[in-house]
Amino acid sequence: MQKISDRIYSVGVNDDDKVLFEGLWPLPFGVSYNSYIVDDEKVALIDTVEAGFEEEFLENINEAIGGRPVDYLVVNHMEPDHSSLISYMLECYPDLKIIANAKTLPMLKGYHNVQDDRVLVVSEGQSVSLGECSLSFHMIPMVHWPETMVTWLPEENTVFSGDAFGTFGVVADDIVDAEETFDQYRDEMIRYYSNIVGKYGTPVQSALKKLSGLPVKRICSTHGPVWEKNIEKVVSLYDKLSRYEVERGVCIVYGSMYGNTAAAADALAVELEARGIPCAVHDLAGNNSGELGVSGALRDVFKYDTIVVGSPTYNNGIFPPVETFMAALKARLIKGRRFYAFGSYTWSPSSVNQLNKLASEMDFQILGDGLAFPQSYSREKFDASAIADCILK
Ligand code: FEO
Repeated sequence: MQKISDRIYSVGVNDDDKVLFEGLWPLPFGVSYNSYIVDDEKVALIDTVEAGFEEEFLENINEAIGGRPVDYLVVNHMEPDHSSLISYMLECYPDLKIIANAKTLPMLKGYHNVQDDRVLVVSEGQSVSLGECSLSFHMIPMVHWPETMVTWLPEENTVFSGDAFGTFGVVADDIVDAEETFDQYRDEMIRYYSNIVGKYGTPVQSALKKLSGLPVKRICSTHGPVWEKNIEKVVSLYDKLSRYEVERGVCIVYGSMYGNTAAAADALAVELEARGIPCAVHDLAGNNSGELGVSGALRDVFKYDTIVVGSPTYNNGIFPPVETFMAALKARLIKGRRFYAFGSYTWSPSSVNQLNKLASEMDFQILGDGLAFPQSYSREKFDASAIADCILK
């Protein structure tokens, strides 16, 4: 538990144990599930936390409000990392009312069998008084689910933003950011955005426009630090990511069965680095320990303007881990990227053509035919310098 202001307490938890967020995304630095108390004549709890943290969560709440009951539970977002303990809260506080919007209702019933008389349904801009201060509710659909809303506390210029402006990584004992916090979390924030919210660039832009009318002094997200000193940087990063804006650089993503496509990827990375081009390399087949796989590759696709994909031909098609990556690109509506394909084959050079076809369907700029090389890698078969010329022209 941490006191953030005279009225606001952080009562969320850190999760160091979960290996894959949403069962998909690696968590080398853990994740936090943030929840907040607004303490006034009435007590409001903003969101809950993931299942398994019941005792710690209740202890944090009690530490903040000294055994008083929670009057309202605001449900900004129903994904279970924030909503899992709704039933538990309803049992702990028999008079508690849930504050939620109309789109949340069927989810509350489906996940927690919540009865209508336990819910106060709010609409866009509606306010609920807690005594001296009040909360108002603003819909930001698809950031990250259709029911998502943010809660605004005008007396503190604070927005409880749900997943927006969140990041992977546990939080320090002091959850409020310092000047250097943004730089410490930047990569994990981009990875979180690209993995979780990356498909929803247009809704994120709409949400940013809506929030730009508010004099925000504090952002309390559901994941990661509370932002006070870095608000401009955090909002600017979300703006850039949701416009799919990138910088010059190359993201090499490959899968390899017997090391030949991998050797080509490494040779190209060495050549690009020698030329001073920012370059990230991701092995999707998990041959290197510590690899983030598709998760890390997506992060760097949101950073750099050029995607180079390597795949051997497998069953006369694309190597399955690479196919998964291409599907992840398509699902995120990535646009405006430059694309080059390469890979080894034994008897059928089809993976490169199929990669180029998928990239064309995403309207990427295809940088030449790509290069399929037969059997083992050699510098003669895969001329990294000529390929770098082609990619950088
Ligand atoms: Fe952190 Fe969409 O849940």
